Amino acid sequence: VPSIRKKNRCFACGPYNPDGLHLIFHYDPKKIEATCRLRINPKYQGATGFAHGGLIATLLDEAMAKANGMGGVIAVTINLDVRYRKMVPLRKPLMLSGKRIRAIGRKLYLRSELRNQAGDVLADARGIFLRVDPERLRR
Ligand SMILES: CC(C)(COP(=O)(O)OP(=O)(O)OC[C@H]1O[C@@H](n2cnc3c(N)ncnc32)[C@H](O)[C@@H]1OP(=O)(O)O)[C@@H](O)C(=O)NCCC(=O)NCCS
Repeated sequence: VPSIRKKNRCFACGPYNPDGLHLIFHYDPKKIEATCRLRINPKYQGATGFAHGGLIATLLDEAMAKANGMGGVIAVTINLDVRYRKMVPLRKPLMLSGKRIRAIGRKLYLRSELRNQAGDVLADARGIFLRVDPERLRR
């Protein structure tokens, strides 16, 4: 499901960002979970043959952001805690997922995972998001 925002130039998911990752997520409202299949382009290499850690953090953050956004929740990341468990290969099929675990007041607690095709968790993250007034995100 492409983002419903017009002219979405988000680096991770925006169709209108020529330099973006163009991630396409699916959303399961029952699980409050967003998922995406992807392969990492070699231009995002860090250590030789593997993905850069900053790009992995971007993916994990975006999966949680989509679990909020595709459920109609407007929120921003206020904390991101990434665990890099295994080297992430370039070009190989990967599965990215983000899920809301709980909500306390304006604070939303989420988890995300990046897995390989065999189902091994390569990296995962905990994120805290804060609900914000949509007007604050507009310029
Ligand atoms: C999120 C933001 C709008 C919060 O501003 P605000 O609406 O005025 O919220 P407040 O500062 O009143 O904080 C609200 C609550 O969140 C908590 N909080 C705010 N920032 C936090 C952070 N980085 N880590 C943990 N908690 C944080 C505050 O302690 C407060 O908690 P409390 O109610 O338990 O006291 C502002 O910090 C911001 O714009 N941050 C940048 C977000 C961003 O760029 N994210 C990456 C891209 S999405």
